[in-house]
Amino acid sequence: MRRLTRGKALSLVRELDAFPKVSDSYVETSASGGTVSLIAFVAIALLAVLEFFVYRDTWMKYEYEVDKDFSSKLRINIDITVAMKCQHVGADILDLAETMITSSGLHYEPVIFELTPQQRLWQSALLLIQNRLREEHAAQEVLYKTLLKGRPTAPPPRSPLGACRIHGHVHVNKVAGNLHITVGKPIHHPQGHAHIAAFVSHNTYNFSHRIDHLSFGEEIPGVISPLDGTEKITFNNNQMFQYFITVVPTRLNTRKISADTHQFSVTERERLINHAAGSHGVSGVFVKYDTSSLMVTVSEQHMPLGQFLVRLCGIVGGVFSTTGMLHGLLGFCFDAICCRFKLGIYRPREESPDDAAHSSSACPVQTASCSKDRTLL
Ligand SMILES: *[C@@H]1O[C@H](CO)[C@@H](O)[C@H](O)[C@H]1NC(C)=O
Repeated sequence: MRRLTRGKALSLVRELDAFPKVSDSYVETSASGGTVSLIAFVAIALLAVLEFFVYRDTWMKYEYEVDKDFSSKLRINIDITVAMKCQHVGADILDLAETMITSSGLHYEPVIFELTPQQRLWQSALLLIQNRLREEHAAQEVLYKTLLKGRPTAPPPRSPLGACRIHGHVHVNKVAGNLHITVGKPIHHPQGHAHIAAFVSHNTYNFSHRIDHLSFGEEIPGVISPLDGTEKITFNNNQMFQYFITVVPTRLNTRKISADTHQFSVTERERLINHAAGSHGVSGVFVKYDTSSLMVTVSEQHMPLGQFLVRLCGIVGGVFSTTGMLHGLLGFCFDAICCRFKLGIYRPREESPDDAAHSSSACPVQTASCSKDRTLL
């Protein structure tokens, strides 16, 4: 009984065999078939290699959601050089919520404003990248991918003199605020704050400045912020520079790095302060920032291994059957044109069209030319 069912099962499985063995004597090879097979192999190899590159490649996926994190602090990284002596300028941050001044994390370092040729080269390379970024957002992906591999953004140190480099980082609340760099050191008093500017002569005012780095959130080596490399030279003593920044919290998840950072967009404006002409204000550099309520998650995606394998199978099987069908079709057309219509002979076909023996028998007159052309196929 048991034996019987096993035998039945075996025969059932045998019936299901999709790969029946064909005896060697029934198999015939032809030159055209060989050529087509060769082409198929080359195509498969080529496509498989290309597919492998697609598999190795990664792409960035952007997702947006409402930023629910409103309690954490926002870190601002600053590296700005102003063409004034350090004792004459002061930087501080006012935020909307508490009018609180948080500038203790900033350092003042006397430097020279002019760049060395080497630094100038670095600066122009940076500006070039900035211009490309402005043109196409896609470049951002390239930067996320390549620059993250550890290209330093920090410019080489400068020898000291008449300008002031203000650098460091401060933590502020996640509300709109205003970073300003103006004449005089800031002083704090209960009603607000002021800058002592009494002893600074008006014609030493020079708010020409260069932003080497300005970013929000964790500092990630290699990521270039929109304002990095900006240089503004003015020939007026009373110039006001304003930058309006919208900060977008960005969660970065790439293979190399995963971090909470902040991208930002910026618009800028500058104007001459001239009270007589009705252009009021305070000369200096002002950076107004606000945070966006949307958060962006950027994650690096790549094809899963399973999908890659399935696609490989698809390529191999697809190319094989497609070239097989094309070969058959071409052979059939060739037979029809070359042998049937020309000679006006009709004979029912008993064998496959790519059968060389058959075609030679089908066109007895043009055997030589037929088989020659078929070889070229
Ligand atoms: C400010 O400094 C820059 C760089 O040293 C210089 O080119 C510019 O003429 C100066 N402007 C004024 C008003 O002194």
